[in-house]
Formats: sequence, structure tokens, C-alpha cells
Amino acid sequence: MRAVKDVPREDAQAVLQAYPTWYHSIELAPDVVTSGIAPLEHWEASLRSLQLPDMHGKSVLDIGASDGFFSFAVERMGAARVVALDYYAWSADMAEYAKDWRESKRTGLPLPSPQESRHWRPDELPGRRPFDAARELFASKVEPVVGDFMTMDLTPLGRFDVVLFLGVLYHMQDPLAALRRVASVTAPHGLAVIETEAMEIAGLEDRSFCEFFPGMELNNDPTNWWAPNATALAGLCSAAGFREVTILTKRPEPRRQGRAKALGSWLAKTSIASKLGVGAIADHSPLRYRAYAHARV
Ligand SMILES: C[S@@+](CC[C@H](N)C(=O)[O-])C[C@H]1O[C@@H](n2cnc3c(N)ncnc32)[C@H](O)[C@@H]1O
Repeated sequence: MRAVKDVPREDAQAVLQAYPTWYHSIELAPDVVTSGIAPLEHWEASLRSLQLPDMHGKSVLDIGASDGFFSFAVERMGAARVVALDYYAWSADMAEYAKDWRESKRTGLPLPSPQESRHWRPDELPGRRPFDAARELFASKVEPVVGDFMTMDLTPLGRFDVVLFLGVLYHMQDPLAALRRVASVTAPHGLAVIETEAMEIAGLEDRSFCEFFPGMELNNDPTNWWAPNATALAGLCSAAGFREVTILTKRPEPRRQGRAKALGSWLAKTSIASKLGVGAIADHSPLRYRAYAHARV
């Protein structure tokens, strides 16, 4: 794989011109960065949050790879084989779909999912073009696989030392079935790294809860369904067959809710609460955050 410093700037600029809309921010050449949904620093911080082991010689499956930021990153870190798997974002013209998303956010009008939208073109894979262009610039050996992870036959894929399941769990209608499939492609003693939208309800952290989004409540996206709390995330991984689960993220601080609400949450946990009948003032609104977990088979 070519180092970023060795990619000619003109070639990278030409890719930016051809593909102005990206999900990931990727440095294609020195100081030539694609315009993803968040700045490059966000993705670099996310990469650090994965707490990846030494990747030299490892096989990696990146489920829901999108533009490939994490696939290229692990290839750079020395992975021997990287498979980038995606379906929905690759099968739609995501640059056009993003325009509809912005319009829907502005107007409040409903937005179809990519596969129900007028931008769905699975025969042409328009959404994979930015990934392909970056792959070519980097002379990368990342192997793209087009498939719906939930319905495709996973046997031919084999099993991987490291499986990345980043930003995908909350898109799953059946998160337990999804994690079972993640476990099935993780090699014995392998590691699955999971990143997901998550939530906590102050005072109820020890119970397993998932918040359900029947419509477009989460980020105006009709393909977002569930956000677990950390206890539910760990429980889902265990129920899916992972032997050892570590939640890497600290839970959000309840004080972010404001002092009065935090006091209500604290009071609700004490015996004073039932005597005074103040349970009702406890704040049960979920605190959203991104959770990272390591799960071992
Ligand atoms: C929010 S993006 C996350 C992209 C990347 N993994 C990251 O963390 O930045 C979700 C990605 O998962 C993909 N995806 C969702 N459901 C999928 C499925 N059933 N099979 C394959 N890919 C899926 C989408 O197409 C999209 O590219």
C-alpha cells in the first residue's frame, strides 16, 4: 500500500473533484482530505478509541466499510488481509441521497431509506465509487465484498482475527441476530470491535435497556432502530456467543443533564424518594453517546 506522502497531489485533487461528497474524511495525499460528515480528527479519534491490538499479519473484516477509512487504516497498520464489506451505502447514489436527507431535515418531511429511494442503483454501485477511487490512489489491496451482512451466506467469507462492526449495530432491525452473525465470522480467540450509538438512563445503568426508534428520531435517519445502554450492549454480545466482553467507553456523566435533573435521579435512588413520593421527578430521558466494546469468541 502506498503511503499518503507518496500519492501525487494532482491525482488526489482529481478524485476530490470527481467525488465531492464522502461519508469519511480521508487524507488522500498530504493536506488533500475528503469532505466527510465529520473532520479528519473525528475519525482519527474514533480509530484510537477502537484500542486495536498489533495488526501485523492479522486478517480483518470491516462490516459496513462505507468509504473505507477504517479498512485503509488497518491495512496501513500492517494487516495481512482486509475485506471491506458493504451493501446499502454502496448500492445507492449517496451524494444525491445526502441532498434529500438535508432537505428532509430542513422541512421535516419523511425520507425513504436508501433502498426505497430514487437513488437506489445496486447494479451500478454508485456509492462505492469514492471507496474505489481511494483504493486505487493508495494502491490498496483491501478486498471489497458487496453483500447484505444479514442475509448473505457468510461461509465463503471465512473467519477473521479482527472484525470491525462500527456504526452498524444501531442500523440492525434484529441486533442480537446481527451480533450472532458477527460472532460467526470472528476466528477462535479473535476480536470483534463494536462501536454503536448508545444511551444511558441515569439511575438505571445496571439494567439492560435499548431505546427503540420507530421513525426518524435518531439523526433523521429511517434506518436507525436501536440504541442499547452499556449493560444491554454487553448482554447482547454475551447472548450472541461472545465469551469475553469489555465495554471500553465511560458512561456519560449524569451532570450533563443539569443539576436539578441529576438531583432528581439521585433522589430517586434513595429511600427518601419513596417516602417523599419523589420518584416521579427522576429524569428518565436517555443520554446518548457512542459506545465502544471488545468482544472475544
Ligand atoms: C453509519 S455507516 C458506518 C460506516 C463505518 N463503518 C464507520 O463506522 O464509519 C453504516 C454502514 O453500514 C452499512 N450497512 C448497514 N447495514 C448493512 C448490512 N446489512 N450489510 C452490509 N452493510 C450494511 C451501510 O451501508 C453503511 O455504509
